[in-house]
Amino acid sequence: MVFSLLLLTSPLVHATQFDNTTLELEIIRARFQGAGLVPYLLANFTPTALLTATYTGGGIVTPGQLLPKSRTRTAPNLTVTPANMTTLLHEKYTLVMVDAWAPGYTDPRGQICHWIVNGVTVQDHSVLTHGSVVVEQYRGPAPPSGSGPHRYAILLYAQQFPTVSPPQGFPIKNNDPGFCHLTDYVKASNIGPLIAGTYFTVEEGVATFTPSPTSPVVTSTLLAPGSSGPSTSTTGTTAQHNGAFSSSSNYLTILLAPFLWLVAL
Ligand SMILES: *[C@@H]1O[C@H](CO)[C@@H](O)[C@H](O)[C@H]1NC(C)=O
Ligand SMILES: *[C@@H]1O[C@H](CO)[C@@H](O)[C@H](O)[C@H]1NC(C)=O
Ligand SMILES: *[C@@H]1O[C@H](CO)[C@@H](O)[C@H](O)[C@H]1NC(C)=O
Repeated sequence: MVFSLLLLTSPLVHATQFDNTTLELEIIRARFQGAGLVPYLLANFTPTALLTATYTGGGIVTPGQLLPKSRTRTAPNLTVTPANMTTLLHEKYTLVMVDAWAPGYTDPRGQICHWIVNGVTVQDHSVLTHGSVVVEQYRGPAPPSGSGPHRYAILLYAQQFPTVSPPQGFPIKNNDPGFCHLTDYVKASNIGPLIAGTYFTVEEGVATFTPSPTSPVVTSTLLAPGSSGPSTSTTGTTAQHNGAFSSSSNYLTILLAPFLWLVAL
């Protein structure tokens, strides 16, 4: 009796949080595509955790949200919610914020690096910077007037090594706006996989050119209806997460088994 109750209820409790995170991950993945950040900034983006940013005087930044420059002057607080228990086993992370310009604009000098911190940690979902190595100090967005809606991506990479040496050219010196090439930085510093990201937009004045159109995200098509139960979903991503789901409940059963036998006796 106790045995079956436990087995029945605990997966259900997890399922709500689980489906919500899966959907949010699909949304952010689609937003990066729709806004052209994939492939302009990242060749691909398959986040395994949700990253949320909170600036002073406002709630959580929704992906792509247009923010007044004045609200983004100081660094945001960041939280991370993994898709499953195994995503956040890394000890250290690297945090990067880059200005990927307005959609459709490219600059041969790359992007502008606004924030790079090696060795950040995640505790109780919060991204902590104590004891980290600041490669580029946070600098708030300052897009030139008329240059369109700049996309600022905040990205969290899992470090494969506890320490990372800034590659040649970093910290960026004698280069006031801080031009950098994100892909070159990631490759040269050998940090590790990108696990989470979000972005927001800041625009000054009226654009003097027409930015590329961005596609809206139709949430209803991201996960098939009826995907609230693990067994009914058919998409690749969901199937992958379902694997995590069942292995975590199996794990729970294994952990609880000796205890449950005692109760039964
Ligand atoms: C996920 O859950 C949070 C808090 O419970 C809620 O604010 C958010 O809208 C949910 N997201 C989706 C896509 O349902
Ligand atoms: C960021 O976190 C710190 C410490 O928890 C808190 O004092 C501060 O109010 C937070 N700021 C924002 C903008 O949420
Ligand atoms: C956890 O999720 C990641 C990516 O979503 C996946 O690669 C990994 O296999 C999952 N872990 C388990 C135990 O299923």
